[in-house]
Amino acid sequence: MTLCVWLGLVTSALAAEPGHFGYGKPATPAEIAGWDIEVRGDDGAGLPAGQGVVAKGGEIYGEQCAACHGTFGEGEGRFPKLSGGRGTLTHDRPELTVGSYWPFAPTLWDYINRAMPMQAPHTLSADDVYALTAYILHLNDIVPGDFVADRNTLPKVKMPNRDSFVWTDPRPDTAAMPCMTACADPGRVAITSTAERKNLTPRTTGPLDSMQPK
Ligand code: HEC
Repeated sequence: MTLCVWLGLVTSALAAEPGHFGYGKPATPAEIAGWDIEVRGDDGAGLPAGQGVVAKGGEIYGEQCAACHGTFGEGEGRFPKLSGGRGTLTHDRPELTVGSYWPFAPTLWDYINRAMPMQAPHTLSADDVYALTAYILHLNDIVPGDFVADRNTLPKVKMPNRDSFVWTDPRPDTAAMPCMTACADPGRVAITSTAERKNLTPRTTGPLDSMQPK
């Protein structure tokens, strides 16, 4: 889906479709598939077929990842560490790694698949990404050496920091249910408080300034 394709269609297909502003074209299923690579962290939805083992991952890692991330994930120079850091999250200088911080193993597959190796993303096969995922999990002592990563096993891996994440938003207004029947008379709804003089974002001038506290 190149710019040329888009431009070429400006005058032809789209002009014929009213309501499309005369440019662009409907994305084809093949084009959508190229972008639709999302893998969900918690249940691994979207993980493709294929599999990979730790040993194979170690080989690929040595060739394509170790130069930046270090042979054992210790990180070269200022490139990120991929292992270690367990127990440091409450320290002054916490080390956030796959092993110490990340809540879900399928996210590791997703990240490598979309972004790595840094200089050539999208060049690894699904099997290679599974193998690399297995290897990095093994580097972090999360899976054994004979672990086989695939779409079924990855969502079952319990990441060490998973339970430290909070999955519900505790702020009261996020839990408020919208009123759908027998609601308050909007004419009687009044502003009872504003952010003014509470040292929050300063109010701007204009119509909103009529919202003075009663
Ligand atoms: C040229 C250097 C380079 C190479 C080669 C490279 N990476 Fe990376 N990698 C990076 C950088 C830089 C980041 C941080 C990117 C960011 O935060 O935006 C990163 C981030 C990551 C992360 C996320 C780390 C975190 O905790 O946030 C993972 C996982 C990862 N790389 C895996 C790999 C794998 C697997 C390979 C080999 C297929 C690889 N990388 C090859 C430079 C590299």
